[in-house]
Amino acid sequence: MANDSGYADIHGVRLKLAQPYVSEGQWIGQSEILMQLLACWITVDDADLPLTPRLVGSPGVGKTQLAIAAAKAQQRPLYIYQCTADTRPEDLLITPVLSQGGEIAYHASPLVTAMICGGVCLLDEGNRMNEKSWASLAPLLDGRRLVESIVAGITIPAHRDFRSAVTMNQDESTFEIPDYILSRLQPTLNVGFPNKQDEMAILQYHLPFAETEMLAMTVEFLQHSHELKLDFSPRDGINLMRYALKRMTQDSDHPISRDDAWQEALEKCLGEDAVDLEQLAQRRRRTLGGDSVPLGLADLFFDPDDPLHPDRDDDDDEDF
Ligand SMILES: Nc1ncnc2c1ncn2[C@@H]1O[C@H](COP(=O)(O)OP(=O)(O)OP(=O)(O)O)[C@@H](O)[C@H]1O
Ligand SMILES: [Mg+2]
Repeated sequence: MANDSGYADIHGVRLKLAQPYVSEGQWIGQSEILMQLLACWITVDDADLPLTPRLVGSPGVGKTQLAIAAAKAQQRPLYIYQCTADTRPEDLLITPVLSQGGEIAYHASPLVTAMICGGVCLLDEGNRMNEKSWASLAPLLDGRRLVESIVAGITIPAHRDFRSAVTMNQDESTFEIPDYILSRLQPTLNVGFPNKQDEMAILQYHLPFAETEMLAMTVEFLQHSHELKLDFSPRDGINLMRYALKRMTQDSDHPISRDDAWQEALEKCLGEDAVDLEQLAQRRRRTLGGDSVPLGLADLFFDPDDPLHPDRDDDDDEDF
């Protein structure tokens, strides 16, 4: 179906294919989760189907990187679809584009290209996309392994080597994904923060030109924040160090000391709160616990439902 010219013909419709994502994509440490993801893509029998797992975890923990590394380990081309709140069902599949000659050209999305070429598709930040768009993927994610493009009027079956994974983010700007879709996105793989050794190796890999002392300071900070259940991630560490290193090399006549540059980077990249982690963690705990209704003195002596509770507000029981 696909040919080397970057086009594919499906049921008489010519589709322009998307470009694969090419990068180094090395995954450092935490080999278990990489194995779990790769296991999802194995088929143990001709009648078996691969799984589409959900990768979840804090922002910047490495979800996207994990999927990139897994595709690389399989030596399959990787196509990344960045999901957003504006993604429409057809954006995920085939988009009609007016070509120079005034004709309609059909462009296959990264997802459809992966389906045609037998590549891996990563639906990145999947829960930023609304339910309607997810609905168009339901037949792809179950035994049917196909999508239907209304715009091009064709049904596209997935190549037997097609594999997929979805990353999900945990913040307010996301949608609730309906259960019938979630049940097709199994299993859930939770990407956790790296341990001290791995975190050091990750920072070193991304910033091979940084001094060991600064790497150590950053790892110390990140590990402390993981212990306190704060959300500072390897990405935060990488950004912080990049800025500090730039500040240190900026003016060779009046160089900023390592400690000063690092402190400044901490404040500018991660916010003033990051300077005192203990206090930030305490404040977070208080906010999280703050959702419960404050207890009054009477709550110590009476059950909330006790008719004798002085603050009981129960109109139903009133006799008229
Ligand atoms: N185990 C790891 N090996 C190599 N690099 C890593 C690893 N973990 C994190 N990183 C690096 O940390 C940065 C953040 O990772 P990534 O973008 O994958 O996070 P994410 O979980 O997808 O974040 P978001 O929730 O914002 O999408 C990247 O530069 C990535 O290369
Ligand atoms: Mg990501």
